[in-house]
Amino acid sequence: MALKVIGISASPRLNGNSDLLLRQALAGAESVGTQTEYIRLADFKIAPCIECNSCYKTGSCIVEDDYHLLSAKMLDADRLIFATPIFFMTVCAQAKILIDRCQCLWAHRYVLRKPLIDTAGRDRRAMVIAIGGSKSKKMFDSIRLTMKYFFDVLDMNYAASLFVNKVEDPGQIKKHPFAMKEAFRLGRQLAAADTPPPKKPADIELT
Ligand SMILES: Cc1cc2nc3c(=O)[nH]c(=O)nc-3n(C[C@H](O)[C@H](O)[C@H](O)COP(=O)(O)O)c2cc1C
Repeated sequence: MALKVIGISASPRLNGNSDLLLRQALAGAESVGTQTEYIRLADFKIAPCIECNSCYKTGSCIVEDDYHLLSAKMLDADRLIFATPIFFMTVCAQAKILIDRCQCLWAHRYVLRKPLIDTAGRDRRAMVIAIGGSKSKKMFDSIRLTMKYFFDVLDMNYAASLFVNKVEDPGQIKKHPFAMKEAFRLGRQLAAADTPPPKKPADIELT
């Protein structure tokens, strides 16, 4: 059966740099015959987590908004490609709101100690794409750590990171053909079902 790949674009800019790389990665996934879905976070209404801790008792979130739709899509997918710009050395606010709302999945797994029914025994993998405007040695440190825990909560193997720095103007990434090629290659690789899940994420950082 064909794998389902979803790409979540967190950038507030339509056709922003991370968004363009995500589309390349999805094109790479499609090149091996997978079914892909592109999701732009800005099209959904998601409120921040209010730490009411209701999920500690039920494993689900009481806030009624589009989170539930997105969470169902993430749990159903075989592959997730998550793209974000770097804002103040970490993911942008739109991305962080979605990640924080996954606290109910964390409570489900680690407080209530229940497996996620939709994901048990499946080979699910995830990749992150992040872009920053400057060049700083530590620019992607925070994202690496956040994604480790985000993908774990989703019960997904952290398969790859594509980080690009010194790209700021909207669409500027198009002038970086190597980054565009790498996004395509990693998307294609992520969607290949016949390879074992990696023991540690492929970590690619480009200038
Ligand atoms: C609020 C804000 C914070 C930013 N913080 C950083 C930062 O900490 N480091 C950096 O290198 N670039 C920073 N940038 C620049 C963006 O990461 C850069 O323009 C990137 O290309 C945006 O990606 P996008 O086009 O996918 O949205 C910031 C931009 C904004 C608007």
